[in-house]
Amino acid sequence: MAEEKKKRDGFGSKLGIIAAAAGSAIGLGNIYRFPCEVGNNGGAAFLLVYLAVVIFLGIPVMLSELVIGRRSQSNSVGAFKKLAPKTAWPIVGYMGVLCGFLIFAFYSTVSGWTLEYIVKSVTNSFQGKDLATIEKEFTAFHDMGWRNVMWQGIFIFLTGFVVFKGVKNGIEKYAKILMPLLLVILIALGIRSITLPGAKEGLAFLFKPDFSKITGKVLISALGQGFFSLSLGMGVLITYGSYVKKSDNLTSTAFSVVIADTVIALLAGLVIFPAAFSFGVKPEAGMGLVFNTLPMLFNQMAGGFWFCLIFFVLLAIAALTSTISLLEVLVAYLSEELHLKRQWATVVACAGTMLLGAFASLSLMSDTPFAIGGRPVFDLMDFISSNILLPVGGVLIVIFLGWYFGKQKFFAEVTNEGTIKAPLKKVIFFIIRYLAPVAIAIVFISGLIK
Ligand code: PHE
Repeated sequence: MAEEKKKRDGFGSKLGIIAAAAGSAIGLGNIYRFPCEVGNNGGAAFLLVYLAVVIFLGIPVMLSELVIGRRSQSNSVGAFKKLAPKTAWPIVGYMGVLCGFLIFAFYSTVSGWTLEYIVKSVTNSFQGKDLATIEKEFTAFHDMGWRNVMWQGIFIFLTGFVVFKGVKNGIEKYAKILMPLLLVILIALGIRSITLPGAKEGLAFLFKPDFSKITGKVLISALGQGFFSLSLGMGVLITYGSYVKKSDNLTSTAFSVVIADTVIALLAGLVIFPAAFSFGVKPEAGMGLVFNTLPMLFNQMAGGFWFCLIFFVLLAIAALTSTISLLEVLVAYLSEELHLKRQWATVVACAGTMLLGAFASLSLMSDTPFAIGGRPVFDLMDFISSNILLPVGGVLIVIFLGWYFGKQKFFAEVTNEGTIKAPLKKVIFFIIRYLAPVAIAIVFISGLIK
C-alpha cells in the first residue's frame, strides 16, 4: 500500500492516455449498442440528438472527469474524498463503482459472444446460410445459457489477466495498434454495405431525420448512449485521469477521444443499416440487428471469411479495452480505499462480476427464470446503469466541478498550471457550470416522465 502511494502506475506517453481512453470508449457500445439504439429509436432523429449530446455534454463531462482524476491522483471514490473532504461528494464515486460493476456484468455477456463468433468464423459456419438460418442459430445460441456463461467467464478472466499486469504494460500496449485497424476494417465493410442493392433505404433511415420521432424515450436513450459510448459518468476517466502525466493536454485528449469514438459509431451505423435494409433485417431487431446482419454481409464479400474472422477478433479486443477500464475502476477502488492488494482486488472484482454477470447471460434464454415484468435481467441492468446511473453521475460530476471545485483550479489544471494554452477553457467551464447540468437534467426528467 505504502509503495503504491509513493509511485502510482501511470501512462507512459501522450498517445498512451488517448489510446487508453479511446480504448475504453470504443467498444461494443459503438458497434453493437449504438446501432441497436438507433434502430429502436427511429433512426436519424436519434442520431441528431446523440450527436448533440456527444458534442455539448460529452466533451465537458469528459474533461471534468480527467481534471478531477489528475488533480486528486486518486480512484473515483478517493478523488472526491481528497478534493471535498468531510462532504457527501464521495457518494458520486461510490455510485460510479456500483455502476461499473453493473455494466461490467452485462457487458461481459456480449463480450463473450465475440469469442463464440470468432470460433464460428474460424469454422466458417455462416457460409452459404440464409437470414432465417442465421437468425435461428443466434437464438439457439442464447438458449445455450451455460455456453454464454462460459464465454463470459473466459472474457472476464482475460480482462483480469491484463489488469493484473498493471496499467502501463496492460492497457496501453494493446490499444495503440489495434484500434486504427478496426477503423480500416469498418471502412471496408461500410463500402460493401452501401453498395448492396436496396442500401439507400438504410442510408435514409440513418440520415434523413423525422423530427416527429423525437420523444422522451428518444431523448433519454440518446443521453444514455452518449454517456455509455464515451465511458462517462462512472469514474473511468477519473481513474484514468489519475494516471495521466502533469504535462499532458487534457482538453485535446477529450476532443480526440470524443471524435474517435463518434467516428467509429457512425461507421458502425453505415455498415449495419444499409446492409440490414438490404437483407430484410428489421431496424428494431435489437441484438440481432448486428449479430445477424454482419454474417450476412460477410457472405456477400470477396474474402468474406477473412473479413469475418478479423472483424470479430478486433471486436473482441475493442470490448477488452473497455472491460479493462471497467475493471480498473473497481480494482483502483478496492486496492486504494479498502487496501486490498492489487492482485486480490482483481480476483475479488472478477469473481463478483462473474456471479452477477451469469444472471445477465442466463436471462437471455427463451425460457429464462431471470426476467422481471417480462424483461430479461440483462435489459434491466443495461437500462438502469446506462440510462439512469450514468447521466445522474454525469450531472453530479459537472455540478461538482462547476460549483465546488471551481474555476481557478479548473483553469490551472487544463492549462497545466499556466504552461499551455487552453483557448476554449472559458466556454467549456461555462458549459460545465450552467449548461450541462441543466441540459442533462431536462433530458433526463423529460425522458422519465414520458
Ligand atoms: N464505452 C464502452 C463502449 O462503448 C463501454 C463502457 C461504458 C466502458 C462505461 C466503461 C464505462 O463499449
